[in-house]
Amino acid sequence: MSRRNLIVGNWKMHGTVSESLKRITALGRKLEDIGTTDVVVAPPHTALYSAAIAAQDTGIKVAAQNMHWEADGAYTGEVSATFLTEVGCEFVLIGHSERRKLFHEKDEQLNKKLHAALAHELGAIFCIGETNAEREAGQTFERLKEQLKIGLHELHIHDIEGLNIAYEPVWAIGTGNTATTEQINEVHNWIRAYLEKNFDGPTANSIRLLYGGSVKPENAKSLIACENVDGLLVGGASLDPDDFVAIIEAVA
Ligand code: PGA
Repeated sequence: MSRRNLIVGNWKMHGTVSESLKRITALGRKLEDIGTTDVVVAPPHTALYSAAIAAQDTGIKVAAQNMHWEADGAYTGEVSATFLTEVGCEFVLIGHSERRKLFHEKDEQLNKKLHAALAHELGAIFCIGETNAEREAGQTFERLKEQLKIGLHELHIHDIEGLNIAYEPVWAIGTGNTATTEQINEVHNWIRAYLEKNFDGPTANSIRLLYGGSVKPENAKSLIACENVDGLLVGGASLDPDDFVAIIEAVA
């Protein structure tokens, strides 16, 4: 099965509404033909609505960086899946390592978020990855297995069609230390096999596996060339439209 490449720019907490609009407009102008690549940007919540409108004719889609699993209620500071779809969001990041580390999000909560996102037909981008300490201790696969097992708990074959999984080794995020293609191949092949074993072959093959962690224009081509890498999750380099476009073009 052929999977369309997916390039996601995670803007994190960078960008007022006007800055986000400037970035989207610049991207739209530079991206003349994104062809067979899906391009998604994730601005802060406040800029989602205007970003989705500005992106309308560009082919670029918009993602939220986080959401709550309940539809509504007394959850101060949170937003739900329906709020996101209403403002034109088509994707959502779930379980980014910064959410896990700085905001103490647990695998069990991420599982609830995944259920809610998929039920609302949001393209979930579920982030998993080991810390440096876990890798050094030889616990990489143990940790990834735990994240997948709990994160995908009670999700069935028909639920996870359209799911995207981003492997982001925590030690590679924002550090300039990109994982080697050997490390990425080893993990991505393992994730594909895990999905095949726990769901089935066609389902496993329908899920896009993204790599994230210090992706740059210079390494995008070699990363996407890995057999089971179907896309890239880009942080820092997605803030500069020239760099982000260079990454998209390297992948195309
Ligand atoms: P980075 O961030 O590209 O700046 O390493 C990746 C991410 O946080 O998703």
